[in-house]
Amino acid sequence: MRAVVCTKLGPMGEGVVVTEREALEPLPGQVVVDVRAAGANYVDGLMCQGRYQIKFATPYTPGGEIAGDVSALGEEVSGLRVGDRVMALCGFGAFADQVAVQAESLTLIPDGIGYGQAAAFVQSYCTAWFAMTRRTSVSPGEQVLVLGAGGGIGLASVDAAVALGASVIAAASSEEKLAAAEAVGASAAIAYETEDLKVRAREISGGGVDLVVDPVGGRHSEAALRALKPFGRLCVIGFTSGEIASVPLNQVLLSNRSVVGVDWGAWAFRDPAGNRKLLDELVEMLSAGRLHPVVPAERPLEDAVDVMEGLLARAVTGKIVLVP
Ligand SMILES: NC(=O)c1ccc[n+]([C@@H]2O[C@H](COP(=O)([O-])OP(=O)(O)OC[C@H]3O[C@@H](n4cnc5c(N)ncnc54)[C@H](OP(=O)(O)O)[C@@H]3O)[C@@H](O)[C@H]2O)c1
Repeated sequence: MRAVVCTKLGPMGEGVVVTEREALEPLPGQVVVDVRAAGANYVDGLMCQGRYQIKFATPYTPGGEIAGDVSALGEEVSGLRVGDRVMALCGFGAFADQVAVQAESLTLIPDGIGYGQAAAFVQSYCTAWFAMTRRTSVSPGEQVLVLGAGGGIGLASVDAAVALGASVIAAASSEEKLAAAEAVGASAAIAYETEDLKVRAREISGGGVDLVVDPVGGRHSEAALRALKPFGRLCVIGFTSGEIASVPLNQVLLSNRSVVGVDWGAWAFRDPAGNRKLLDELVEMLSAGRLHPVVPAERPLEDAVDVMEGLLARAVTGKIVLVP
């Protein structure tokens, strides 16, 4: 089988190659999945560069989430059959023809959902759902401002907020990204590199938004914080701008605002049962047609470096999956 391998952490492209590997055999409790699509995420590029808080020992295969077909069952595995369509968060190893994962980490893909949509679903939607249902809440009629709205977390947050009955203002850097956010349900758009984010968000919302979802950081965080109405919440999710924002705490005190940290990955690792419940809620909504994950662009395994570079360079709208 083929696998993308990161041979050393550092500048993208220098240590990442596609190699031939032995076919996988499942250990007890494991399942081998033939990968039909592997979700590419911003964090995959950070990991290969050694810039993420988790650093894998090299060589390792990047890629944290897959969708595919069960091809072999290890001993002690029950409730799954060869040929089942499944998706999973595997942490690493996804950019390959096959992965071996613990059986309990697999979820059946609902009918009508493609491998690409499934492979790009778990990380983005779990993060958005964890933020909006576990770290804070969203009530019907509330107004949610989503930064980086045309990216993975952004689009999932727009979709999830709409599913919770909120109206969503999308903020992004390009017309293409704003159009993508509007296509999943955002009702207003702010081009935050050319428009004043705070002023426009207050104008559109009629005085201030209830919630900000912020996977971007940098200068937009303070503008978004100042766009919150009394008792508003700002969810800190990531720092793709490259800058961890410092915000004046008087802006939190005034109007009784809250800044809410969101670390879904660490929580999911510490509380697998809690995360299972979170994912089950999402899959139920997906099956019922209440969530609408975008159909991602498909690229071959050989393009892994190019895809990760594109994500790090802000050049991607929506989601991309690698298809072995
Ligand atoms: N806290 C958690 O539990 C958790 C879980 C998963 C992921 N994350 C983090 O969430 C962040 C977003 O992930 P994602 O999958 O949504 O990434 P993504 O698909 O690449 O989208 C990120 C967005 O950030 C914006 N951005 C602004 N400045 C940027 C820059 N200098 N370089 C790149 N992007 C820039 C871009 O939108 P515009 O061009 O419109 O500005 C881009 O679309 C990452 O930092 C990731 O590590 C956090």
